[in-house]
Amino acid sequence: MSRPKRFLSGVQPSGALHLGNYFGAIREHIRLQEQGEAFYFIADYHALTTIRTLPDGADRKAPAADLKQYIFDVAVTYLACGLDPSRAVLFRQSDVPEVCELTWLLMTVTPMADLENATSYRDKIERGKAADAGLFTYPVLMAADILAQDADVVPVGKDQKQHVEMTRDFASKFNRAFKSEVFKLPEHKFGEAPYVPGTDGAKMSKSYGNSIGIFDEGKPLEKAVMGIKTDSLPLEAPKNPDTCTVFTLYKLMATPAEQDALAAKYRAGGMGYGVAKQALLAKINEYFAPMREKRKALMADPGEVHRVLKDGAEKARANTRAVLDRARRACGLA
Ligand code: ADP
Ligand code: TRP
Repeated sequence: MSRPKRFLSGVQPSGALHLGNYFGAIREHIRLQEQGEAFYFIADYHALTTIRTLPDGADRKAPAADLKQYIFDVAVTYLACGLDPSRAVLFRQSDVPEVCELTWLLMTVTPMADLENATSYRDKIERGKAADAGLFTYPVLMAADILAQDADVVPVGKDQKQHVEMTRDFASKFNRAFKSEVFKLPEHKFGEAPYVPGTDGAKMSKSYGNSIGIFDEGKPLEKAVMGIKTDSLPLEAPKNPDTCTVFTLYKLMATPAEQDALAAKYRAGGMGYGVAKQALLAKINEYFAPMREKRKALMADPGEVHRVLKDGAEKARANTRAVLDRARRACGLA
């Protein structure tokens, strides 16, 4: 009998996660735990390529302490948002150091030109980031992450599709070079992930200072929601919900009936944006209330979070060792 589909994805621990990350990635990851074997990891080796600077380019005071905190935050976020450790495996990339050896083996079949043409690398260089070998070989480590778990499907955002294609390419080059079937070729999968706008209407991103954190609450949340940019139509004017950031965010959490009701108020006129913002604020509070509670419980019991990561690492490491063993044999290192 064939085994269930294996899903694998990684998240970089590079700052507080926001609504874009939740609706664009985390929610989909968590749903997939019902559909097969799900493996998710915190890509801390990858984060080392960026953790020394802040999104605005300034140096960080304590990069090591920040990284540690972000790693813990990602783990807590996944657990609070519903990752069930009895169904899905959550681990920290650097708890599986064998993935670095696998990276080396793959590097020996990786064409320089592929790395030079990787869009994520070129984007970062164009934005003025200094080119180091870590950033340059980032896609090879990512390929190793995927191949190390014999993943079938890699749920990712559009920006990562090229990396999954490169993974297939490196895997088949290695298989061919060593006349073997060591690596399984993975497919990428885009979720029905919506595009989540930030408070200024552009794509929500931690680098744009326009995000709303998944666990923001109280005054800071209120300030962020009330600060969402809208057009300047007067209160009486009919308004278009479909071009309004407030409504776009509301839709992510509201039932179809609730969406229709608010859209009707927009179109009828007589409703100011303040009212829509209050509705959004209430919706965020309602939607994330159980997750906030879960997060508070986890923050009070960090030992539990570390146990989940330790168990996850054992499972992920066992898979990686088996794959690495096949690869070493295939290329004559065993
Ligand atoms: P950021 O832009 O804040 O640095 P990342 O690039 O780390 O976010 O995002 C991790 C994943 O979260 C992405 O691959 C994507 O799937 C999802 N994501 C991030 N921002 C958004 C957004 N505004 N809308 C939809 N999905 C998003
Ligand atoms: N590069 C991915 C990102 O920035 C994170 C990542 C690292 C990843 N290794 C992976 C995603 C393996 C999927 C599979 O979002």
